[in-house]
Amino acid sequence: MSEYICIAKTTDCPPGQGIEVVAAGRMIALFNVDGQFFALDGVCPHQGGPLGQGELCGSIVTCPWHGWQFDVEDGKNQITSTICQPRFELKIEEGKVMIAQSHLTDFAE
Ligand code: FES
Repeated sequence: MSEYICIAKTTDCPPGQGIEVVAAGRMIALFNVDGQFFALDGVCPHQGGPLGQGELCGSIVTCPWHGWQFDVEDGKNQITSTICQPRFELKIEEGKVMIAQSHLTDFAE
């Protein structure tokens, strides 16, 4: 059974926005799409840009460095379907955004 760790309060990330958080040494891009939370690896696969600082439009985030776009709901790049940003399992409990710790370490290199 996976343990979850708190990475933010739900109020830290209002609807239509994203934030960057660090959990277990990983940069996480956390997004709020109309009250639903999604988390991606926060490091853009192009050249390492900060996805959590990108502009969110609907469920599409635009990397602030060179404009690559990803759907935060499934991680898919909007131009090249073979590029998919890793996603993290979340749950919301008592106003806290919780992330599965084992999922973080599964992606660790
Ligand atoms: S680093 Fe994200 S688009 Fe270049």
